Amino acid sequence: MRRVKVGVLGATGTVGQRFVELLDGHPWFEVTALAGSERTQGRLYGEAVQWHLGADVPAYARGMRLQPGKPGLDCEVVFSALPSEAAGSLEPLFAAAGYKVFSNASSYRMALDVPLMVPYLNPEHLAAIPVQQARRGWKGFILTNPNCVSIPLAMALAPLHSRFGVRRALVTTMQAISGAGYPGVPSYDILGDVVPYIGGEEQKVETEPLKLLGSWEGEAFRYADIALSAQCHRVPVREGHLLAVSMELGQALPEEDVLSAWQEWRPDMLGMRLPSAPDVPLIYRSEADRPRPGRDAMTASGMGAVLGRLRPCPLLGWKFNVLGHNTVLGAAGCSLLNAELYFASVEQVAETVPDVQPSRSRIPAL
Ligand SMILES: NC(=O)c1ccc[n+]([C@@H]2O[C@H](COP(=O)([O-])OP(=O)(O)OC[C@H]3O[C@@H](n4cnc5c(N)ncnc54)[C@H](OP(=O)(O)O)[C@@H]3O)[C@@H](O)[C@H]2O)c1
Repeated sequence: MRRVKVGVLGATGTVGQRFVELLDGHPWFEVTALAGSERTQGRLYGEAVQWHLGADVPAYARGMRLQPGKPGLDCEVVFSALPSEAAGSLEPLFAAAGYKVFSNASSYRMALDVPLMVPYLNPEHLAAIPVQQARRGWKGFILTNPNCVSIPLAMALAPLHSRFGVRRALVTTMQAISGAGYPGVPSYDILGDVVPYIGGEEQKVETEPLKLLGSWEGEAFRYADIALSAQCHRVPVREGHLLAVSMELGQALPEEDVLSAWQEWRPDMLGMRLPSAPDVPLIYRSEADRPRPGRDAMTASGMGAVLGRLRPCPLLGWKFNVLGHNTVLGAAGCSLLNAELYFASVEQVAETVPDVQPSRSRIPAL
């Protein structure tokens, strides 16, 4: 069985730690390189990292030495959890050197030849990779995952958009402090308070879902025709972004039709069953006071989006809440799913792994 060697850039950070946790014991991927900034390079991971997750630093990672985050790492894949500025300069170097880069940073998400992907939503956008490689002369590639709000928002809208059309939506966010990385927002600024500003966030939330819900047309992406408006807030919650959404659909419907579109939705993912994907990634809770970050963020091991409170909206027709874990579904988990999808469908690793179903379909362009 082929095991794919992977590295993590920004491995000591908030998202990097999630990668280190999620990759522990992964059936296809073996972590062979961890990279940090100049601050931590050369130190043992277990000593350099300020671990924020529940359990201890996974045993496999403790004794690994942090390396400089530049090509030369002993791996085929790099998961990038770099700040966007560093990602902007370093990720193309890795892609040019032949590495497969799965990035959380915003630097290349909206680039014309870079897939922005959530396997639940747009797995066919993998077909942009050969075009990117040909245009840029890269042996490797960059494949990005969206912002941590864009993912649960797009997951909530996707089943409705494909059945009924979504004309416009207004989203108000309540975003956890871990979304700002570590140390992130000073405690003095957030304890007992709400900050009604997250730099650059509203623009990302208003554009990324349109690429996700759009199509790859062979040479370029066509964006979904939905008008989005976002208002983003940082709240004193540790993990999990809660969204309040009002939306206008393309037709008048009874409530049961909206609910059943959500409840019946099973993403195709090119016919793959991926090791880190839950069977049901979109969950509707019927209690009046759910979803809540403190109780529901880890639903489906953090890989699910949790919906609730569907009700009429006097302005746009319908309103509801949706919640997503910002560092799992919203970051490292989504990146890991993208890598699983790539290796299952393009490199066909799945057929060598006994507990994963072989694919039903392949992507012709690849
Ligand atoms: N936090 C979230 O919920 C979330 C969600 C979606 C996307 N993202 C994106 O994911 C990326 C990482 O975010 P984060 O929250 O994990 O940030 P973070 O906690 O601040 O961690 C940043 C990491 O990058 C490393 N780093 C910093 N500057 C570097 C440089 N110049 N060269 C190489 N490495 C450098 C740091 O290394 P040292 O510790 O060694 O200094 C650290 O490991 C960002 O692009 C962010 O926008 C974050």
